[in-house]
Amino acid sequence: MASSLQLQFRLSPSTTPALLRHRPIQCATDRRALFDRIAPVYDNLNDLLSLGQHRIWKRMAVSWSGAKAGDCVLDICCGSGDLAFLLSQKVGSNGKVTGLDFSRQQLSIASSRQTSLSRPCYKNIEWVEGDALNLPFSDGSVDAITMGYGLRNVLDKRKALEEMLRVLKEGSKLSILDFSKATQPTTASIQEWMINNIVVPVASGYGLAEDYKYLSKSISEFSTGKELEKLALEVGFSTSIHYEISGGLMGNLVASR
Ligand SMILES: C[S@@+](CC[C@H](N)C(=O)[O-])C[C@H]1O[C@@H](n2cnc3c(N)ncnc32)[C@H](O)[C@@H]1O
Repeated sequence: MASSLQLQFRLSPSTTPALLRHRPIQCATDRRALFDRIAPVYDNLNDLLSLGQHRIWKRMAVSWSGAKAGDCVLDICCGSGDLAFLLSQKVGSNGKVTGLDFSRQQLSIASSRQTSLSRPCYKNIEWVEGDALNLPFSDGSVDAITMGYGLRNVLDKRKALEEMLRVLKEGSKLSILDFSKATQPTTASIQEWMINNIVVPVASGYGLAEDYKYLSKSISEFSTGKELEKLALEVGFSTSIHYEISGGLMGNLVASR
C-alpha cells in the first residue's frame, strides 16, 4: 500500500458556512459539509433508525469482502469507522486496515472511537482523509475493499468503481453495502414511507430534518441491484453479484477483480 496511510489533512479546512446549510445538496463540497454536520449524531441515528440492524448488515458486508487474517484492506467512505473496526478484527494484528473518508469530522470521531474502544487489534487501523474518486493508493495493493452507504453518495459511481478495481489485487473482492433501489413498487413505497414518517421526524429531533430529506432523493437517484452488477462488469470486474437484504430495503454488491 502507498506510503500515504497516515491520517492526512490535505483538503481545505472543513467548515459549514451558513449559506451551505439547507440548500439542495449539489456538489462534493455540499456532501462533505452534510457529513461533517451530521457526524456527532450519525452513530446514534443509525442505531435508532435501523433498530441496531445496521450492525448485522455491516458484518455481512465484511464477510462478503473475503478479508482474512494478515490482509491489507480498505474501507472507503468509512465515516465513523464501523466497517473498519469489523475489518480490523478479521485481519488481526498482522493485517492492516485503512479507513478513508473526505469528512474530517467523521474521521475525527472514528479516531476517538479507536482510542476509547482500545482493543489491541484496532492499532492496525489508519484513517486517511481522501477522495473515493482519486484513491491515494498504488495499483494492485489491496486484498479486499468494503464500502458502506458510500457509493450512493459519490458523484461518479463509475469512477469510484474504477478506482476500487485499480487498487485491488487480482482475484480480490469489493463488498458494497447500501440502500437498495427498489424495483418493486411496494418495496419502494415502504422505503419512502419509512424515510418520510420515521427517519425524517427522528432526524428533526436532532435538528437535521433537512439533511435527512436528502436520503430519499439519493435512493431514488441510485442504481438498482441489476444496474450495479452491470456497471461493475463494464468497469472490468470479472464477477459481480448484488444480494438483497431485509426484503430488498438494503443491498450488497460483491464484485471480484
Ligand atoms: C452515509 S456515510 C457512511 C459511513 C460508514 N461507511 C457507515 O456505513 O456507517 C457516507 C460517508 O461517505 C463519505 N463520502 C461521500 N463521498 C465521498 C468521497 N467522494 N470521498 C470520500 N468519502 C466520501 C461521507 O463523508 C460519509 O462519511
